[in-house]
Amino acid sequence: MRAGGSDPIREAARLLAERGNAVALTGAGISVESGIPSFRGSQGMWAKYDPMEYATLHAFLQSPRKVWEMLSEMVSVCGGAMPNAAHKGLAALEGMGVVRAVITQNVDGLHQAAGSRRVIEYHGNLDELICVYCWKRYLMRERWTPGAVPLCDCGEILKPNVVLFGESIPWLAQEQAEEEARTCGVLLVVGTSAQVSPACDIPGIAKDAGAAVVEINPEETSLSGNVTDIHLRGSASEVIGKMVRLFQDPNMKSPKD
Ligand code: APR
Repeated sequence: MRAGGSDPIREAARLLAERGNAVALTGAGISVESGIPSFRGSQGMWAKYDPMEYATLHAFLQSPRKVWEMLSEMVSVCGGAMPNAAHKGLAALEGMGVVRAVITQNVDGLHQAAGSRRVIEYHGNLDELICVYCWKRYLMRERWTPGAVPLCDCGEILKPNVVLFGESIPWLAQEQAEEEARTCGVLLVVGTSAQVSPACDIPGIAKDAGAAVVEINPEETSLSGNVTDIHLRGSASEVIGKMVRLFQDPNMKSPKD
């Protein structure tokens, strides 16, 4: 792992320009600056709600109203959040031909709101509700009101179409994400603690296929000591903002050149 030379962000940008075909893998940390708490850490969601009691499929089936106490907070916070400079920066890098896809573990929809076009939602999205009994689907905004528990027309309690612990990853998202990892030149890993499988296996898949791994995170993670080639220690908005400015410099070669 190299922390990068005198200017690690410039070194990482040069790597992106030389190799091209960059793919981003994002986690909750990229949305922290949009006011959405991450999951781990002292201020994280899991410090307030035990994920084994509030975030597993089993817990939802046994006590859906209890799980909706946590879900309501998540829907409310995500519903009012706006993309930050990191989301916008990744969309800008996609427009410059530097980043070709974003694989996100987040369910907040902020990459699409920022303008990213190719977004692979590895853990689903809070936009949609699904009935796990009759499989009918609804839009969250048409069916959920703060403090209420949304019901299906069949009478059962609806579940957001997000992956809870114990659920499998949507097969298309998993396939697309692994294909992007296997064929990218650089994997930009942004704001994830890399603790949850199978998402945390993606950097290793990319690395094994020959990609360089650039990590953007103020903290060390399990990737930082081995899979990561350059660790840019800082906030996503600060680091990605600087990267975008580098690529806006006419002297900076972009992969399309
Ligand atoms: N910029 C970049 N990274 C940040 C920032 C920031 N401003 N703030 C925090 N981080 C980093 C933290 O250091 C941490 O490593 O973001 C990471 C957030 O880690 P988690 O809270 O574990 O979130 P994530 O890795 O996305 O969790 C993965 O776990 O609970 C499940 O399904 C949930 O998708 C989630 C999955």
